[in-house]
Amino acid sequence: MLHTVDIIRKKRDGGELTDEEIRFFVDGYTAGDIPDYQAAALMMAIYYQGMSRRETVTLTDAMAHSGDTVDLSRYGELSADKHSTGGVGDKTSLIVAPIVVALGGKMTKMSGRGLGHTGGTVDKLESIPGYRTSLSTEEFLRQIDEVGLAVIGQTGNLTPADKKLYALRDVTATVDSIPLITASIMSKKLAAGSHNIVLDVKVGSGAFMKTPEQAEELARAMVDIGKDCGRNMAALITSMDVPLGNAIGNALEAQEAIAVLKGENNGALRDVCEALSTQIVSLTFGWSPDEAARRVRETLDSGAALAKMREWIAAQGGDVAYVDDPSQFPAAPYAREVLAPCDGYITKMDAEQIGHAAVLLGAGRLTKEDTIDHRAGIVLHRTRGDRVCKGDVLCMLYSGNEDAFAQATALIERAIIYQTDKPTDIPLIYSIVR
Ligand code: URA
Repeated sequence: MLHTVDIIRKKRDGGELTDEEIRFFVDGYTAGDIPDYQAAALMMAIYYQGMSRRETVTLTDAMAHSGDTVDLSRYGELSADKHSTGGVGDKTSLIVAPIVVALGGKMTKMSGRGLGHTGGTVDKLESIPGYRTSLSTEEFLRQIDEVGLAVIGQTGNLTPADKKLYALRDVTATVDSIPLITASIMSKKLAAGSHNIVLDVKVGSGAFMKTPEQAEELARAMVDIGKDCGRNMAALITSMDVPLGNAIGNALEAQEAIAVLKGENNGALRDVCEALSTQIVSLTFGWSPDEAARRVRETLDSGAALAKMREWIAAQGGDVAYVDDPSQFPAAPYAREVLAPCDGYITKMDAEQIGHAAVLLGAGRLTKEDTIDHRAGIVLHRTRGDRVCKGDVLCMLYSGNEDAFAQATALIERAIIYQTDKPTDIPLIYSIVR
């Protein structure tokens, strides 16, 4: 007979838990038989003592099977999914999914809503009138059969163990543990069913992982665990020192994503999307990275990815007139400029603070219950490395609440640092883990 207190003691003292002990804990906690205080103690013991690769695989698998799982076996090895560890201005899913599907993949994504300074794909898609983020299982699979792709909100009873444990870790200072993050993220990806999984592990001021070394350690752990569980895996370590692209805020980001698919935006955002898509199609079809990159570029340049986005949005009930003419997205009633306070080079543009400013403008949520204003957000006119003169427009703020500008402006002013010398470049993509 297993006892939770013995499992906690064993881990506290640096022991390695058996598969049976890990499954006993996950099943018992999910069922409500193990109380929060014991789960919290075990999370803290794992935080300090870590977990072996075998323990992490078992924890991940037990969490993945704690509720419903999606069966995508009918798509063989063509199903693909991507996951970002969260960033500011990260609208890559809206661009990557149609690229991969235009090349023959099947992309199935269950995405989250934004909370705190990071945005969520579902909120961005809901800025397109009519787009349905909730589909029945039959509708979801039919759409993947017919169009190749569906992006919906998290539904059903997927990974209930993670829902409970993540909420508990959030309030017990045990989120930033590599085995616990790995099990949390990978259990959701395994339950969502795709065979090919590419992770975008963000590093920098706006990310969980503040150094490339930490990000690489997390990426390695997730890739290894995914492979041990039979999936094709790759991870990119990408910069989140500055927001990705120019737009932060839901409708603004949807418009920017459409501009990339139309070939009208060729900056860092397109580069990261090309790199992510390249990894996904290389895993899915076995193409060499060079061949995959060439096909991804062709798909963007020919308009095939844009056509796929149109088909996808229409299938999911969205009004494609907004894809055809993004100027139709309603503008926020109030706009305000933020001006450079001095001459100099921008050496820092703290993504997290800028994300918080967007939340104040109405683009995000501070609590799960908050409603968001799809029109609200920030468009950056300058970025790190640019030289500015006093009075130049750094960015535009958009909101439905004029009173929000003062606080948002103060945050942005604190987030941007200037120097007289040009700063050295920060890599956009640090490394690829496969
Ligand atoms: N994102 C998750 O889904 N889980 C974690 O533990 C951390 C980030």
